[in-house]
Amino acid sequence: MFYSLTKKLLFTCDAERSHDFALGSLKRLAHSPVAGLWRQQLVAKPKTIAGIHFDNPVGLAAGLDKNADCIDAFGQMGFGFIEVGTVTPRPQAGNDKPRMFRLPQAEAIINRMGFNNKGVDYLVNNVKNSQYKGVLGINIGKNKDTPNEQGKDDYIHCMRKVYAHASYITVNISSPNTPGLRDLQFGEALLDLLMAVKNEQLDLQAQYDKYVPVFVKIAPDMDLIAVEQVADTLLRSKMDGAIATNTTLDRSQVVNLPFANEAGGLSGLPVQHKSTEVIAQLRHKVGKDFPIIGVGGINNSASAQAKLSAGADLLQVYTGFIYHGPKLVKNIVESL
Ligand SMILES: Cc1cc2nc3c(=O)[nH]c(=O)nc-3n(C[C@H](O)[C@H](O)[C@H](O)COP(=O)(O)O)c2cc1C
Repeated sequence: MFYSLTKKLLFTCDAERSHDFALGSLKRLAHSPVAGLWRQQLVAKPKTIAGIHFDNPVGLAAGLDKNADCIDAFGQMGFGFIEVGTVTPRPQAGNDKPRMFRLPQAEAIINRMGFNNKGVDYLVNNVKNSQYKGVLGINIGKNKDTPNEQGKDDYIHCMRKVYAHASYITVNISSPNTPGLRDLQFGEALLDLLMAVKNEQLDLQAQYDKYVPVFVKIAPDMDLIAVEQVADTLLRSKMDGAIATNTTLDRSQVVNLPFANEAGGLSGLPVQHKSTEVIAQLRHKVGKDFPIIGVGGINNSASAQAKLSAGADLLQVYTGFIYHGPKLVKNIVESL
C-alpha cells in the first residue's frame, strides 16, 4: 500500500528527479518515526559466501545509492546486503541530463548516468557516519577523464580508501556509460588490472589484518567464449567472486517502445534471461565453489529462483525494486 502510492507519485515525475527526491527523503527520514513505513523485519535465511555471513541472500545492487547516503534506510528494508557506488577517486558530474528513462511496458530502465558521484572521500564519510551494521559492498570505478592505461591507478586509489570500511569490494569494469571501460573486461587488460588489484588486496590485508573479498562485476553482452575467458582470468587472478550482470546494450527485447533508442544500459525484465544465461555459463566454467552474485531483471520469486538454479549464490535487485518496492525483497526472502 505504502509503495504503490509512493510509486504513483514518483512515476508522475522525470525518472532522475524522482530518484533524487526518494533518496533525499530516505536519508532525511531514516531516523524518524516515518521510517516505520518501509521498515521490514524479514525471516532469517542465512548464508555464508566468501567468508561473509549474510542474514539473507537478497541485496541492493550498485548504482541506486551511489554515494552511500541512504544505507540506514535500505538496511531498515531488510536487504541481506547493500552495495553502494560506483564511486570514483574524484567527484564527477556524469553525462548530460536527461540520462535515465523508464520503460514501464517492459518493466525496464535505460540509463547513461556515467558514474555521477561525489567521490570516494564523501562516500567513506557517509559509511563512517551510518548506523548500519549489515554487509556492505563498495563498488569502485575509474574517473571518465582517466585514460584506460592509467585506469588501474583509480581502482587502487579507491581500494585503499574503502578497504577498512567494506565487507567486500566490487571492481566495476562493465558499465556501458564510461567510454572504453568495458575494454578492461578482456584479455591482457583484464589480467593486468586484476593482478594489480589482487596484489593491493594482499598488501591491505597485511596492513589492516583483515581480508576483504574482491568481486568483479561483468556485462551481459558477451558470447560464451568471452564469458569463458573472463572466468579463466577471474580464477587466475584469484578473485573472490563475480557479480553477473550489469546492464545490456541489446535492445531486441524493447523494439518500438518509447525511449528504446536512448543510448545507455538497459536493465530490468529485458535483461533477465540474458543475465541468467551468463550466470549459468560462468558457473559451468568456474566450478561449484566460486561465489557468484546474480543480478539482472529479478522481479519476483520465480526469477530469483531461476538465478539461483543457474548457479548464483546471492542475488541483487535494482530495477525490480523500483517497480515493486521493498515488498519484493520480503517476498523473495520468504519464498526461499
Ligand atoms: C539507473 C541505474 C544506475 C546504475 N548504476 C550502476 C553503477 O553505478 N554501478 C554498477 O555496478 N551498476 C550500476 N547499475 C546496474 C545495476 O546494479 C544492475 O547490475 C543492473 O541494473 C541489472 O539489474 P536490474 O535488472 O535488477 O536492474 C545501474 C543500474 C541502473 C538502472
